[in-house]
Amino acid sequence: VRGARLPTGGRAIAVSTHRVYLRAPRLTDGGEFTSLMRASRAFHRPWASAPTDVGRFDAYIADSARTDFVALLACRIEDDAIVGFFNLSPILIGSTRNAYLGYAVGKKYARKGYMRDGIELVLHHAFVDLALDCVEANIQPGNRASIALASGAGFRLDDCPPRYLKIGGQWRDHERWSMAATEWRARHG
Ligand SMILES: CC(C)(COP(=O)(O)OP(=O)(O)OC[C@H]1O[C@@H](n2cnc3c(N)ncnc32)[C@H](O)[C@@H]1OP(=O)(O)O)[C@@H](O)C(=O)NCCC(=O)NCCS
Repeated sequence: VRGARLPTGGRAIAVSTHRVYLRAPRLTDGGEFTSLMRASRAFHRPWASAPTDVGRFDAYIADSARTDFVALLACRIEDDAIVGFFNLSPILIGSTRNAYLGYAVGKKYARKGYMRDGIELVLHHAFVDLALDCVEANIQPGNRASIALASGAGFRLDDCPPRYLKIGGQWRDHERWSMAATEWRARHG
């Protein structure tokens, strides 16, 4: 993982050596992003929701200007296609620096390993560039894909009672998965 020039100019937040890089979303991504998310709506349900129209996408861009919200698009190096997204939000700065991680892949790009690459880049950004102490993911117990992604990246299931979070207008049970900076550093030498 290293910083590098993007093929299209500008600067990547972090870039993998092979397939995927991360960058901040821009207003001009609205068409591509929302059409990918519209086509993925049934695939995302009931696990996650994402902006599917330009109005909501513009609100997402506005949110991403806040200091407690880092939005990252996972893009394919080969053709710059947006394949998915990660959000670190909210980022809570107190006695420790924590963030919640959310993500989803576009359906047509699922199960190709792009998100596995992407989550490594997100964690590098979180622990190196943002100097966070801990990243948490709240995952519904039946979400096998998300559990595979998080556990594969080294997140562990916390020993805490299930929590209820509202996703897509419904309150749903979640488990808390987390990774501390110390654990990430131990994994990455
Ligand atoms: C979770 C999600 C982002 C994974 O995306 P993806 O493109 O399949 O991810 P990858 O191809 O990089 O695979 C990551 C791991 O998940 C596993 N996986 C993916 N889909 C799976 C499924 N349906 N069942 C079991 N494992 C699955 C892959 O085998 C891989 O595991 P490995 O590294 O041990 O081989 C995607 O399924 C998604 O967007 N789901 C809907 C939204 C969502 O659940 N968001 C998270 C809310 S907490």
